[in-house]
Amino acid sequence: MAETYSLAEAAMKIIEDRRSIRDYTDEPVSEEHLKMILEAARLAPSGENAQPWRFIIVKDPATRKKLGAIAGGGSGRRFTAEFVTKKMQERFASLEDEAKKKAVFEKLTSGRVSAFLADAPVSIVVCGKKDVWDLPYDTSAAIENMLLMVTALGLGACWVIAPCIDIRDEERLKDLLNVPEGFKVISIVAVGHPTRPHRPRPRIPLHELVYSETWDSPYYKEEEA
Ligand SMILES: Cc1cc2nc3c(=O)[nH]c(=O)nc-3n(C[C@H](O)[C@H](O)[C@H](O)COP(=O)(O)O)c2cc1C
Repeated sequence: MAETYSLAEAAMKIIEDRRSIRDYTDEPVSEEHLKMILEAARLAPSGENAQPWRFIIVKDPATRKKLGAIAGGGSGRRFTAEFVTKKMQERFASLEDEAKKKAVFEKLTSGRVSAFLADAPVSIVVCGKKDVWDLPYDTSAAIENMLLMVTALGLGACWVIAPCIDIRDEERLKDLLNVPEGFKVISIVAVGHPTRPHRPRPRIPLHELVYSETWDSPYYKEEEA
């Protein structure tokens, strides 16, 4: 029997169920679902209601392959920088199994974590108007709306910034996708049908995040949060 939820419970369930999904089946995303995802983006808030977002839908396998290669390169360089500056070692300090740690470092620095983009049935390339003050915030709101709609539809998605960090990759993307002057590629949202359920990633508890009146006083006690 279908469960029934209040609107607030339904909203919280969608937020809780959202995961970054990087493995997809070959099943295409229906046009009906794609439109709902894009509508969710279109309705997002933006500073001064500027709506600086534009979206390029990529399904062509050859273009997807190129996106995957650019994303893999960008991701590999970013994690290599984190490895060289020891940030990565700090992040995984609690992982005691040295063989596992080596495998994680190898996977991250290789760029494989973001190259999955090539295998997503649909990539939504989020572009933005450069001369808009609040561009990163505006497009982030639109992207989160898309991720939540994806979850509500039982699909999976991942927000991928890896191919948009390095200015050289940005030029590659702009050439590949004919993005005009005055716009930049902000991020790519990969969408598809998940191959399997995913466990949630850990989150910092509220009692460590929220302060009362000033920074130094926790709003919640550990047992309340
Ligand atoms: C701004 C932003 C950029 C991200 N870029 C990437 C990326 O380039 N590649 C990737 O595989 N995941 C990327 N992610 C997904 C995060 O790794 C993921 O959200 C995080 O590990 C928490 O996992 P969850 O989304 O399953 O809760 C990005 C997420 C955000 C919000």
